[in-house]
Amino acid sequence: MVEFIFPLVSCYRWGSMDWCIVLFCVARSKLRKPPQWKTDKGISGDLWAVHGGGFYEIAKYKLEPEEMPKTLHWFKWEAYTTWLTGAAMMSIVYYANATAYLIDPSKVPFTSIGAIATSLLFLFGSYFIYEVIVRSHLGKNAFIFSTLIFILLVIASWGSYQLFSDRASFIHIGAILGTVMVGNVFFGIMPAQRALVDCVRRGEKPGKEVAELALQAKNRSLMNNYFTLPLIFTMISNHYPMMYAHEKGWLVLVFVGIITATARHYFNQKHLGHKKPRYLVIPAVLTVLLIIWMRPEPIEPAPAMPATASVAPTTTDSTPPATSATTDSNTDTVANANTNSNSNATNSVNNDAAIAEAVPVSASADDAMMDVVHTRCSTCHAVQPTQQGFAAPPAGIILQTPEDLKIHKAKIVTAVQTGYMPLGNITQLTDAERQQLVAYASSL
Ligand code: HEC
Repeated sequence: MVEFIFPLVSCYRWGSMDWCIVLFCVARSKLRKPPQWKTDKGISGDLWAVHGGGFYEIAKYKLEPEEMPKTLHWFKWEAYTTWLTGAAMMSIVYYANATAYLIDPSKVPFTSIGAIATSLLFLFGSYFIYEVIVRSHLGKNAFIFSTLIFILLVIASWGSYQLFSDRASFIHIGAILGTVMVGNVFFGIMPAQRALVDCVRRGEKPGKEVAELALQAKNRSLMNNYFTLPLIFTMISNHYPMMYAHEKGWLVLVFVGIITATARHYFNQKHLGHKKPRYLVIPAVLTVLLIIWMRPEPIEPAPAMPATASVAPTTTDSTPPATSATTDSNTDTVANANTNSNSNATNSVNNDAAIAEAVPVSASADDAMMDVVHTRCSTCHAVQPTQQGFAAPPAGIILQTPEDLKIHKAKIVTAVQTGYMPLGNITQLTDAERQQLVAYASSL
C-alpha cells in the first residue's frame, strides 16, 4: 500500500472567533492481486502508477525475492531527516528564545537554561519509558501495549501543560510522538529488517530470533500508524491558539488524539476488508462534542469602558512594564478621572498612591485602549520592536494605531481572550485590561 497524507485546512468564523477545520486527506493506492505469472515468482501484491510523466511498477514479495538486488532502498532517511529538521526547528524557536516561547512564568517561572533542561529531560525521559515498555513483555500484546501508551500520553499531555507555555506544551507532545516514531524505525524496525535481509542473503529460513524481532517491529509499526494523524495535528497546532491556549488545552489535545486515532482505526480496518462505519461515527460525534465544549464565550461589554483606573496594573510587580507614552499628561488626566466622579477611579486612587501615579489614564476610550496596547503589545508588535529577541514584528502584525487594531481585530480577540497574547504575559496584561481589550477589539 502506498499512501500520502496531506491536510486541508478550511477556516470560518463563528461569532468573533475563527474556527478552522483540518481534513486529513489520505490518498492511497492499494496493492492488487497480481497476475498468475507474477504470483509464480512469489509476488503477492501489485501496483501500477503514473507519476511525473512515467509509469511505475511496484511489486510486493510475500517472502524473499528470487534474487537479492544489489542496491536496496531502505525507508529510513525520510524518518531520520524529519526528526533532525524538527529538532533543529524546535531548538531555534523554543530554545533560542525560551522566555518568549517555552516559558510561561504563571505556570513555572523557569530560567531559560532550567526550561531547556526540563524540556530535554521530559522528551528523552518519555522516550526512555516507551523504549523500556516496548522491549518488555508488555510490548508483546498489542491491546495492553497500546492502552498503556495511551494512558501515558494523557499523563504526558497533562504534565507538559503544567510545565511549559501552552503552545510549547502541544509541541512537546508532538516531539514525543515524533521521537517515538523515529526511535521505532531506528531501534526496532530497521534491526528486524536487517536480520531478515541477512537471512535471505545467507539463503536461510528466518529463525525464532528473527521472528521475535519481527513481532516487536510489527507492534512498533502499529504505534507509528496510529501516531500519524495526532502527530500532524500537533505539528500544525501552533497556528491555532484557540486549541492550545484553551483553559484545558491538554484535554483538547487528548480529545483530538482520540478522534484522529479512531478515524485512523477505521481506515486500517477498511484496508483489511472489514468495513465498520461505527469507527467513523465515534470521531464524528466526538468532534461535535468538542466543538460544543470549546464554543467561544459571549463577549461581555467592557466594564467601565471610559478611560479609568482599569488601565492601571492591579499588581505592584517588581518589573512593571515600560510606562506609556502618555505619562506626561498623567496629572491632568488623573484629575479628569476624579472630577468625573467615577467610583472605580476613586477606589483605585485610594488604594495606593504609588499605583495611582503610574496610572496612564487618558481622555478618551480610544486613547486609553491605545495606552494598553502600547505598553502591553507594541513592545513586540511594532515596526521596530523593543522587546529583546524580536527583530521584526512577530507574525508580521503591527499594533501601533487604532487602524492596526481594526485590521487585526478578529485575531486579536482570539489571541487575547484565550490568554495566548501577550506571549507568556511578558508585559503583564491584567485581567481587567484583557477583558476591556477583547470587548474593545470586537466592537471595532
Ligand atoms: C513578547 C512579545 C509579544 C507581546 C508582548 C505580544 N505579542 Fe502578539 N505575538 C507575538 C508572537 C511571537 C506572535 C507570533 C506567534 C505565532 O506565530 O503563533 C504573536 C502573534 C500575535 C497575533 C496573531 C495570532 C494568530 O492568530 O496567528 C495576534 C493577534 C497578537 N499577537 C496580538 C497581540 C496583542 C493584542 C498583544 C497585546 C495584548 C500582543 N500580541 C502582545 C509576540 C508578542
